[in-house]
Amino acid sequence: MIDPFGRTISYLRVSVTDRCDFRCTYCMAEDMTFLPKRDLLSLEELDRLCTVFIEKGVRKLRLTGGEPLVRKNIMHLIRELSRHLRSGALEELTLTTNGSQLARFADELADSGVRRINVSLDTLDPEKFRAITRWGNLGKVLEGINAAQAAGLKIKINAVALKGFNDGEIPNLMRWAHGRGMDLTVIETMPMGEIEADRTEQYLPLSLLRARLEQQFTLDDIPYKTGGPARYVEVRETGGRLGFITPMTHNFCESCNRVRLTCTGTLYMCLGQEDAADLRAPLRASEGNELVSVAIDEAIGRKPKGHDFIIDRRTSRPAVSRHMSVTGG
Ligand code: GTP
Ligand code: 5AD
Ligand code: SF4
Repeated sequence: MIDPFGRTISYLRVSVTDRCDFRCTYCMAEDMTFLPKRDLLSLEELDRLCTVFIEKGVRKLRLTGGEPLVRKNIMHLIRELSRHLRSGALEELTLTTNGSQLARFADELADSGVRRINVSLDTLDPEKFRAITRWGNLGKVLEGINAAQAAGLKIKINAVALKGFNDGEIPNLMRWAHGRGMDLTVIETMPMGEIEADRTEQYLPLSLLRARLEQQFTLDDIPYKTGGPARYVEVRETGGRLGFITPMTHNFCESCNRVRLTCTGTLYMCLGQEDAADLRAPLRASEGNELVSVAIDEAIGRKPKGHDFIIDRRTSRPAVSRHMSVTGG
C-alpha cells in the first residue's frame, strides 16, 4: 500500500473499543456518550479486516481503544491475530493501554507473542493521577506494570506533557522509568474533541521541555526507531531512552506509515483529519475480501499529506471534532 505521497503504509492501529475505564481530561469529556454495542464489529470481523491489511503489507499492528483491555474477550482476538506473527507475515503485535487491567492480562499477552507494550502514565503522584484520569487508581496501574515486566514484556511509558500539571515531574518520571528499564516518551497535547479543560493553558511545546531537561541531563540524539512518530535521545545520566512526540512543534507527517481502524470499521487515513472510509459495508457485503480490498486501496489513495493541528487563543474549537478515544491516538 503506497499513498499519493509515496509513503508505504505498514502500520495499522486498531481501536477495538471506544470505551475506557478512565476519563483522562485531555482525551475525553467527563460525560461521554459511547457507541451502542450493536454498532461494533465482532471480534471475527476485526480479525478479518486486520488479516486483509496484513495481506496488503501491514507489518506492525497495534490495538488501542479507548482501553483495549476492556473489550470483552479481547484475548481471543489477540490469540487469533498472533498466527500472523508465527507465519512471519507480521513483525509486531502490540497494544497501547492505560495499564488498569494489565495485572490480569500480562501473562496471556506474553504467551500470545506480544513482546512490547505502551502504557499511558502521566504522573506518579496518586492524587494527581486521580485528578488527570478522573477515575483511575495509580496503585492498580503500577501493579499492572509490575506484572507485565514479570511476564517479560518490554514497556514504553507514554506521558502527555501538560503545563503546570506534570512538566516539573518529568525528570522524576524519567528516572523512575529508566531505573526500571523502560523507555519514556513525552507527547504534546493535541486538539482533538471538545473537553472541559483549556488546551491553550495546558499546552507545553516539547522544545521547551527539552531545553529544561538539558540543564540537568545530557541528551544524545540517537537513530533508534520503532515505526512510531517519536524521535529518541539517550540520556547519559540514566542510560535510558527518552522519546519526543511532537505533532505540534515538529511535524513528522512526511514519514507517516500508518492508518487507523475504529471498532465500527471506519478507516481514518490521518489522525488529524476528518476524512474516513467505511470498511464495514464492503466487509459485510460479501464473504470474500475483494470488496474490502478495493475500498482500502481507494482510501489509501486519498491519504492526506498531514494534519493541521493548531492550538492558539483565537481557535477555541478543536482541530478535529472526534475525541482521541475514537481512534486511540
Ligand atoms: P511505538 O511503536 O512505541 O513507537 O508506538 P507509537 O508511539 O506509535 O504509539 P502510541 O500508541 O504509544 O502513541 C503515542 C502517541 O503518539 C499518542 O499520543 C498518539 O496519538 C501519537 N501518535 C501516533 N501516531 C501518530 C500520528 O500519526 N500522528 C500524530 N499526530 N500522533 C500520533
Ligand atoms: N493529545 C496527545 N496525546 C493524547 N493521548 C490521549 N489524548 C491525547 C491528546 N489530546 C495519548 C494517551 C495515550 C496515547 C494513545 O494517546 O495518553 O498514551
Ligand atoms: Fe482512557 Fe487512554 Fe483516553 Fe485516558 S487517554 S481516557 S486511559 S483512552
